[in-house]
Amino acid sequence: MNNYNKASDVTALPAWRKLLDHRESMNNFSMRDAFRDDGQRFQDFSLAGCGLFLDYSKNLITHQTRSLLVNLAREAGVEQAAHAMFSGEKINCSEGRPVLHTALRRPVGEPLMVDGRNLMRDVHGALAQMTDVVSRIHSHLWRGYNDKVITDVVNIGIGGSFLGPELVSEALAPFARHGVRCHYLANIDGNEFREVTADLNVETTLFIISSKTFGTLETLKNAHACRSWYLAKGGTEEKLYRHFIAVTSNRQAALDFGIREANVFPMWDWVGGRYSLWSAIGLPIALAIGIANFKELLSGAYAMDQHFLNEPLEQNLPVLLAVLGVWYHNFWGAQSYAFLPYDHNLRNFVKHLQQMDMESNGKSVRRDGTPVSYTTGPVIWGGVGCNGQHAYHQLLHQGTPLIPADFIVPVVSHNPVADHQEWLYANCLSQSQALMRGKTLSEAEAELKAKGLSSSEIERLAPHKVIPGNRPSNTVALEVINPHSLGALIALYEHKVFVQGVIWGVNSFDQWGVELGKELGNSVYNLLTRYDAEPADDSSTQGLIDFFRGRHRG
Ligand code: F6P
Repeated sequence: MNNYNKASDVTALPAWRKLLDHRESMNNFSMRDAFRDDGQRFQDFSLAGCGLFLDYSKNLITHQTRSLLVNLAREAGVEQAAHAMFSGEKINCSEGRPVLHTALRRPVGEPLMVDGRNLMRDVHGALAQMTDVVSRIHSHLWRGYNDKVITDVVNIGIGGSFLGPELVSEALAPFARHGVRCHYLANIDGNEFREVTADLNVETTLFIISSKTFGTLETLKNAHACRSWYLAKGGTEEKLYRHFIAVTSNRQAALDFGIREANVFPMWDWVGGRYSLWSAIGLPIALAIGIANFKELLSGAYAMDQHFLNEPLEQNLPVLLAVLGVWYHNFWGAQSYAFLPYDHNLRNFVKHLQQMDMESNGKSVRRDGTPVSYTTGPVIWGGVGCNGQHAYHQLLHQGTPLIPADFIVPVVSHNPVADHQEWLYANCLSQSQALMRGKTLSEAEAELKAKGLSSSEIERLAPHKVIPGNRPSNTVALEVINPHSLGALIALYEHKVFVQGVIWGVNSFDQWGVELGKELGNSVYNLLTRYDAEPADDSSTQGLIDFFRGRHRG
């Protein structure tokens, strides 16, 4: 077991104990007062890096809080852990694997030796293979079975083989100038299959079967359905290779499916699914925005990697976001965390972050297998503003739970319409301002008085208008969403999740919890479809099986 994998109990660290005491002393801390008393607060609690700007001044923190939190990261061994990850140590201890999504954005000139092999050759070999296919499709050298140009790509994949590519190809839609539209087919649900294929022309459609394992039920079922669809609509077996590509680490399974050898793109066991958009799993992205832009995405992530590795913890964007999250989660009892991007093109960001964060840190044993005695990964949720303001922000402002939030907002819109961007940006800022300031009883009363209400009406209404305020948020602003800044933004959150995993002492890179559902899924399917099967172990499952069978018999 390497040093990293000997996770100690974080609650025994001196910094944790000091933070507990400090938390007591922060009971009456008021952000409003802090801003009033300290004209430097914004300067002291904001930071720029890799094209991103982080304002973390609207938090329940003082300078002392920051020092203690950074000390916690230091004492938990974040710096050593980062080096262990980047250098290829087997930090995924339950699967005995290195964790090297960072190698996918590393320049070819920086060798990375793991078990005597320079991984950069493999990484850049795959990138060259992607470049070749993308350029053949864009230049119309690669065509469908009857020589029509490829105009649509269907990515068949789920989880990490879907969410990252979908996020990026949609976030970078303004860079899609190559005439290739991306579609995503993820769920084992005929409704989705029908919707995705409804308007497609088989002659001009390319399918990418995207599965690290090539063993995922949903993906394989959809892949077979797409092949049947392709054949039924007029495609030929002989020219199937012009319409089906696979990205997988299970080469043989892809060949057995009927994918031509040259059409199989590699994946490696040292890349986790939720961290794989930087690999050939990102092929739909490259087809949409071009390989040059895809490389820009990688370079943005690489810039964040370097920032994370080299900047002192006090000025380290992912580390600061991570420790602030731990502060609210473990010391203030916050159980969920909201992400509120103010940009339509980032509408799928939360879905990607949900997998990245919750599949990584939704764990209850430490790396050495001992149970944790504190809460780990929070519930991640959210969605685009302003839409959320007219839906769930009410709970952020006046609900009982404390929910820290990250606002994410670009300054420049790719599609300016009148003064919409000014309004969008203003709304983003005013939401974090409202969360921070709130409205006191006397302010509410004064407001009602100014409207001419009677004192009895004021007394009745004012309590409803009180907004507690003092609710924390970060704002991540960027000039514009482009491949470079988006790469940096996604990598920022990857490293934030990593740092939190290190602090909590969990293995952020396995996902055994998902496996039980898969196993039981198989056995329930057997019970559902085989009438001679033994009854289910519990009456609820059996009752619902009977309900299904009753409807299907009818
Ligand atoms: O849901 C579990 C999971 O293993 C994810 O971690 C992964 O991203 C997804 O399934 C898809 O896996 P694959 O790429 O192997 O099809």
